[in-house]
Amino acid sequence: MIDTPAYKALKAHQLSMRERHLKDMFANDAERFDKFCVEACGITLDYSKNRASDTTMGLLMSLAQQSGLKARVEAMFAGDVVNTTEQRAVLHTALRQQHDTPLLVDNVDVIEQVRQTLAKMKQFCHQVHQAEQACFDGQAFSDIICLGIGGSFLGPKIVYEALKPYHLNKQQLHFVANVDGSHLNSVLSSLDPNRTMVIIASKSFSTQETMRNAQTVKSWLVDAIGEEGAKSHMVALSSNEAAVASFGIDPQLRFPMWDWVGGRYSLWSAIGLPIALAIGFEQFEQLLQGGYDMDQHFLTAPMEQNMPVIMALLGIWDINFWQVSSHCIIPYCHYLRGFPAHIQQLDMESNGKSVTFDGKAIDYYTGPAIWGSEGVNSQHAFFQQIHQSNAIYPVDFILPLSLKNTSETHHDMLVAHCFAQSRALMLGKTTEQAYQELKAQGLDDERCHALAPHKAMAGNKPNNVLLLEDLSPRTLGSLLALYEHKVVAQGFIWQINSFDQWGVELGKQLSGPIHRRITIAEDDGQFDCSTEALIARYLKRKKSSA
Ligand code: F6P
Repeated sequence: MIDTPAYKALKAHQLSMRERHLKDMFANDAERFDKFCVEACGITLDYSKNRASDTTMGLLMSLAQQSGLKARVEAMFAGDVVNTTEQRAVLHTALRQQHDTPLLVDNVDVIEQVRQTLAKMKQFCHQVHQAEQACFDGQAFSDIICLGIGGSFLGPKIVYEALKPYHLNKQQLHFVANVDGSHLNSVLSSLDPNRTMVIIASKSFSTQETMRNAQTVKSWLVDAIGEEGAKSHMVALSSNEAAVASFGIDPQLRFPMWDWVGGRYSLWSAIGLPIALAIGFEQFEQLLQGGYDMDQHFLTAPMEQNMPVIMALLGIWDINFWQVSSHCIIPYCHYLRGFPAHIQQLDMESNGKSVTFDGKAIDYYTGPAIWGSEGVNSQHAFFQQIHQSNAIYPVDFILPLSLKNTSETHHDMLVAHCFAQSRALMLGKTTEQAYQELKAQGLDDERCHALAPHKAMAGNKPNNVLLLEDLSPRTLGSLLALYEHKVVAQGFIWQINSFDQWGVELGKQLSGPIHRRITIAEDDGQFDCSTEALIARYLKRKKSSA
C-alpha cells in the first residue's frame, strides 16, 4: 500500500487538508451532501462530514485501484484460497447466494451444500414450531439455550435482539457465552429441563468455554430426563462431526458448517439457526436476501458509488493519514444496542494484524479499535470526550428512519438528537461564540472570559450517518454485509489476511497449565512471579471460601 503513488500523494494531500475545517467546506459548497452521499440496499450513507474533498476521494479511489482491490474481491467471491495461512477459501457470501450457480471448493459444489443445510434448517424450524420436533415426552419446547462464543454467539445474539418485533415467540431464547458460571447458572435456575432445548454452536466443537458450558447443560438435562431423554434436547451447529457424535448428540440434530466460513462471518450459516427459530425461516431468508443485495452492490457498483469501498477508504484515510486509532459505532436504536460488539469482533479479529499476506512486518497501522454503544445513551456517557478531547474518534451514526413499536413523538426526538450530534461534531463552537453566548446570558465580562475556553469545541470531527429505511431482516442483512465488506476491503488494501486469527492462540495455550495448577496443583514449572502470586492469591481465597 505505502509503495503506491496514491499513498504518497495522499500523504502530501493530507498536509493541505490539515488547515481546512469542515464547517468551511459546508459553507463553501451547498452541494456537499449531494456529492458525499450514496444509497444502496435501503441504506443511505452520508459521508459528507469527513475531512475529505473531491481530491481526497479521487486519491483514495486511486489507492484502492493501485492496491488491486477489485481483483482480490472477485477472487474471494469466486472461492479462491484468499485465507492463505489456513489455505482456505472465504465464502460467507455463498451462504446467502440467491441463485444456484455452482461454486466449487475442492471439486465440491458448496452451493448445493448450503441449499441442503438451509432445507434442513427450514424443516427443523417448522418441526420445532409445530412440536413435531419436541421434548422427550412429546411436549413442545418452551425455551432454547444457545451456547457459543465469539462468532458463534455475537452474530446470532445481536440479530435476535435487533429483530425483536419479528419474533414468533414460540420459544424463549437464552444466549450464554461466558464460562463464568454465574450467567449459566442464572439461566438454568430459571428453566425447566423437561421443556428446554440446548443448541451448542461451535464450528470447532473444541472451544474450551463453550464445551464446559455444554457439559454442564448436558448434565442438567441428563439429571432430569436421563441420557436417552437428553438426546432429543441437544442440537449441534458444527463442522466437527466426530466431536459432536462423541459428545452424544444425535447426528440428525447436527447442522453442518464448513472451513470456508470464518466464525465472525458465520451468522448466515447454520450458526444462524437460533435466528431462524426466533423469527421463522421465511424471515431468515429475508436476512440472507439483504446480505445478497449488498454482495451484488459490492461486486457491481463503480468504486466511486460503492458503499463498502467508500467506508473502507475513509477508514484508511482516518487511520493511515490522520493517525486515528479507533472507530466508534453508535446505533441510535435500542434494538441495535448489540451491533457495536459484533462489529468489534468482525473488524478487530479480522484486521488486528501486523504482517502482510506474505509474512512481511507491517510499518503502518491497520484495523482500529472498535467501540460504541446505543445512542442517545452515549451522549450522557462518553460523548464529552469525543466533542472536547484533542483525540479524534470517527463515529458511524446508524439510524433506522422507521421503527416498529415506537411512537412519532419518541422517534422525532431520537432522530433530532442523532442529527444534532453529527452536526455538533462537524461544527464545533469557537471560544468567541462561547463568549458571546455567555454574554447574552448576562454573565459579567470576567466570568465570560474565564468560562469561554471551557465551552469551546474544536469541531471538525469526522462522522458518517447511515440511514436505514427500516429495521427489517432484509435491511439488517444489508447492513451486516456492508460492514463485512468494509472490513474485507480494508484488509485487501492493507495487504493483510483478514480471515485468520492466530493472535487468540497464545492465550488459549497458556491457560492450560495455569488451569491445571489451579485445579490439580500440577507443578509443571514456574510461571512468572506475577502469575505465581495471582494463582496463590486465588487459591488462598478459594480455600477460605470453601
Ligand atoms: O476467538 C477465536 C474464535 O475461533 C473465533 O474466531 C470464533 O468465532 C470463536 O473462537 C468460537 O469458535 P467455535 O465456533 O469454533 O467455538
